[in-house]
Amino acid sequence: MPLVTSKEMFAKAYNGGYAIGAFNVNNMEIVQGITEAAKELEAPLILQVSKGARAYANHTYLMKLVEAAVIETGLPICLHLDHGDSFETCKSCIDGGFTSVMIDASSKPFEENIEITRKVVEYAHDRGVVVEAELGTLAGIEDEVKVSAEDSSYTRPEEVEEFVSRTGCDSLAIAIGTSHGAYKFKPGTKPQLRFDVLEEVSKRLPGFPIVLHGSSSVPQDLVEKINKFGGAMPGAIGVPEDQLRHAASLSVCKINIDSDLRLAMTATIREFLALHPDKFDPREYLKPARAAIKALVAHKIVNVLGCDHKI
Ligand code: G3H
Ligand code: 13P
Ligand code: ZN
Repeated sequence: MPLVTSKEMFAKAYNGGYAIGAFNVNNMEIVQGITEAAKELEAPLILQVSKGARAYANHTYLMKLVEAAVIETGLPICLHLDHGDSFETCKSCIDGGFTSVMIDASSKPFEENIEITRKVVEYAHDRGVVVEAELGTLAGIEDEVKVSAEDSSYTRPEEVEEFVSRTGCDSLAIAIGTSHGAYKFKPGTKPQLRFDVLEEVSKRLPGFPIVLHGSSSVPQDLVEKINKFGGAMPGAIGVPEDQLRHAASLSVCKINIDSDLRLAMTATIREFLALHPDKFDPREYLKPARAAIKALVAHKIVNVLGCDHKI
């Protein structure tokens, strides 16, 4: 099976009350861990690549790793550009074989966001590629750009119909309180997503797939392991999984997870090296790290996304 777009995945997810996991990939072990879990659970899958991932691993290496995963697993996999920052980056990924791109012009004024998104949509749709756009700003760090909580803003539901109809985008990322990275909420406060905003957006866009970025739940056992074996991540807090599950049962069709993969990998490698100070073969610590990613993704598929056995 060749790479697929997310069109059919989202239609089924919307009607079925579940979401597709969009996991960030940067190297072979991450691709393998994610796709092995999805294969065992017969889960449709989005693998996404950021600008930083392309700079780190190179477009062709990532493309070929994902193609290898398609051959090995036979899964329907959508290959997506995460946070495309310009028409040129999106064009490069469309021309280079991606089946989906995000144009993230959410930090620009409304009219400018519409203009650049529409330009990407025209180019993408002519080539059979789908486009995710964003309205509203998330707090946190992505591609080295830091947005403080004060500068973040929830999506304004009154803008979504005009934005979607004028751009022709295929899905919309909205800001309802999630944020990028491992420090999403202040310690001592109660993490709570704005389901009222999601509900209002969904009412105005019936049947339209909504995307949640910044949706790692920052498992505390992983944070504790990192802190126990030489790391220092006090106060790392994520989005409660029951809230993500609830969002997946509504109009949210794509849930982005990256930080949790990083935590799983880092916690495992820290533990391994601390317990085996004599070892230096990367395969020996990358093997359990890959297994930890697989276990984490399997957990997300079953307990958060609800997309197991949906192929
Ligand atoms: O939203 C950002 C993703 O976690 C990708 O992170 O830009 O460091 O690759 P990155
Ligand atoms: P997390 O940092 O919460 O994993 O979010 C990832 C993301 O939104 C990628 O676009
Ligand atoms: Zn994101």
